Amino acid sequence: MMTDDQLRAQLPHTLRQLDLPALGELYRGKVRDNYSRGDRIVMITTDRVSAFDHVLGTIPFKGEILTRLTTFWFEKVQDIAPIHLLDAPDPSVMVVKRAKPFPVEIIVRGYITGSLWRDYQAGKAGTYGISWPAGLRKDQRLDQPVLTPSTKAEYGRHDEPISEAEILRQRLVEPEIWSQARSVALRLFERGQEWARSRGLILVDTKYEMGTTDGNLVVIDEIHTPDSSRYWIAQDSQERFERGQDQHMLDKENIRQWLIQEHGFSGQGKPPPLTDAVRISLARTYVNLYERLTGETFQAEVGSVEERIKRNLAARGYLK
Ligand SMILES: Nc1ncnc2c1ncn2[C@@H]1O[C@H](COP(=O)(O)OP(=O)(O)OP(=O)(O)O)[C@@H](O)[C@H]1O
Ligand SMILES: [Mg+2]
Repeated sequence: MMTDDQLRAQLPHTLRQLDLPALGELYRGKVRDNYSRGDRIVMITTDRVSAFDHVLGTIPFKGEILTRLTTFWFEKVQDIAPIHLLDAPDPSVMVVKRAKPFPVEIIVRGYITGSLWRDYQAGKAGTYGISWPAGLRKDQRLDQPVLTPSTKAEYGRHDEPISEAEILRQRLVEPEIWSQARSVALRLFERGQEWARSRGLILVDTKYEMGTTDGNLVVIDEIHTPDSSRYWIAQDSQERFERGQDQHMLDKENIRQWLIQEHGFSGQGKPPPLTDAVRISLARTYVNLYERLTGETFQAEVGSVEERIKRNLAARGYLK
């Protein structure tokens, strides 16, 4: 396990953004700098962290952890569906096949928590087209994993829940492709939950992005990362649930709670600046999750992420 001193030493070297126009046309998302040319995208996962659809700052080694976990998972699920990954020239970079992304995100949930729990309590969970049983409790496991899709909103706007019926009615995705996508999402989630379980973790819920290339379904973006998923520690999960205590979370939920509890921020107005203590604490959470999931010690160079990426891209012929 990396020490807090190592995480602290990386604070001034984190990657906020990478300007490399030689790579193609830039699309800067909340977390990734995506350079596309023709049918390939060089996806650079920066160290930016976002919550409630706002970029808050950077977290040591975050880009590397997300990328390494995504390639780790892609390897485990590649028999389920085609994946967009072409090359991984640097620990923070994936070169992918450009797809036509669905305008919806496919969220799969095994438990009722987070925004779904808030919607359920407020009687607003019907938007997903699912009839929820009465009397569910916070963090309760659902009998079957469910799909709660959302539309993909522009920067600064919030994604909106949408039902599968509405996705089809608006023809956001072709029916044939959607039926493949939903079954792929459920199988990916099942595989993810199985693996997580074997490592003492619970994959609580996650978000997939999919699209098509030449009319065929492809899984894109990241998968089963702590940015796109909730993870709980399995060991005392049941006891915590029965006692009505919060779960032991290894994901971004911690930072959301810090924003809400310490600063009353939940998306409106200007987010507070992250303290170094919070940045280090989230880095520790992400390293912890990485090590538990993979069973390997997280090792990384302290130093400029930008210089390392440039070096690796040049060595692999991407920066000619
Ligand atoms: N193979 C692919 N083809 C096309 N687009 C992709 C592919 N893989 C990922 N993407 C898109 O690349 C972007 C990745 O950047 P990032 O994760 O920072 O975006 P985001 O903040 O999650 O989303 P937004 O686009 O709303 O800012 C996303 O818009 C994602 O949908
Ligand atoms: Mg994203």
